Amino acid sequence: PEPGLRDAHGRTKRKLRLSLTDRCNLRCVYCMPEHPRWLPRDELLRREELLQLAQVFVAELGIREIRLTGGEPLLRADVVEIVALLGRLRALGLERIAMTSNGVPLARHAVALRAAGLDDLNVSLDAVTPEAFRRLTGGELAPVLRGIDAARAAGLPVKINSVILRGHNEDEVLPLVRWAMAEGITLRFIEFMPLDGRGYWNDARVVREDSILERLRAHYTVHAEPPTDDPAHYYLLDGRYRLGMISTISKPFCRRCDRVRLSATGMLYACLFAQTGADLRTPLRAGAGVDELRQLIRAHVWHKQAGYAERPGYVERPVTMHMLGG
Ligand code: GTP
Ligand code: 5AD
Ligand code: SF4
Repeated sequence: PEPGLRDAHGRTKRKLRLSLTDRCNLRCVYCMPEHPRWLPRDELLRREELLQLAQVFVAELGIREIRLTGGEPLLRADVVEIVALLGRLRALGLERIAMTSNGVPLARHAVALRAAGLDDLNVSLDAVTPEAFRRLTGGELAPVLRGIDAARAAGLPVKINSVILRGHNEDEVLPLVRWAMAEGITLRFIEFMPLDGRGYWNDARVVREDSILERLRAHYTVHAEPPTDDPAHYYLLDGRYRLGMISTISKPFCRRCDRVRLSATGMLYACLFAQTGADLRTPLRAGAGVDELRQLIRAHVWHKQAGYAERPGYVERPVTMHMLGG
């Protein structure tokens, strides 16, 4: 059998992040440009193209988990159908189909997503105070909470992602933890990464893991848990609640990075911080076969950079979060 999808740093890729669209209904300050210019539709991969590429990754290259991202993936009209069609790849080795959503359109899709075979869902929620939520995302909190409820009621396991920005939502740290504890839902705090669409990132705006833990220690006992293979590491609060931290800035997890990402236009980026990608759409549309695509992907991923630590700080990058899905 073919070896997995490996890079020169000895890492094997198991996870593919598939961005379905660059469009979003929110304008999170840590992500979106203020006035986004959406990509023309014919530049986005069509459903059949997405599935063709996904099949190469799963059947030929050992990818075992696919996460659908955006922009907001639920803005794509055929999202439920895409989930259902990806389900066919389970026979070829796919083990998990997940999604990361802002939760706004979730309530009306939850049951259909579950029925189509979605395994689980991460929802972004950076504040539980409506005013703070509005300031950070430009949207309303209530639909997101309804979406989370609907997803859980439909049997979809949900985790919460919270990006904390200095001067914006530090005061939401405790309310978020209290809310998550009361809901019995996993929460992960994420350090602000230099990939926002406005060039707003700077080091002083990053709220580091240490400073969040310091806040929490005033209210809870905090014990570090053994490492896992998700990007978060976990802490046990008061011996009963597991809280996650995704700390790309202060504790990058690049050494065990097991993922690659495909933009909505079919550009393959081996690293979130990559300066260059590999265009898969052009060869695909020119009729490239499985062998050619597999070689292209292998060659690109082999040269994957070590990670963020190689080039820390803000650097103009060709794609930002909303085009790459994180
Ligand atoms: P799980 O499989 O549920 O752990 O999902 P996930 O955490 O990989 O995905 P999610 O979309 O919820 O991402 C959470 C945060 O981790 C986002 O801020 C992502 O941008 C970030 N993230 C995901 N993959 C990477 C990566 O390879 N490198 C870095 N630095 N951050 C990543
Ligand atoms: N830094 C860290 N996380 C970010 N996300 C979006 N932009 C950034 C950023 N600049 C997160 C969103 C979502 C996930 C896909 O990425 O909150 O949960
Ligand atoms: Fe939209 Fe997600 Fe970016 Fe917020 S983080 S603007 S919800 S794509």
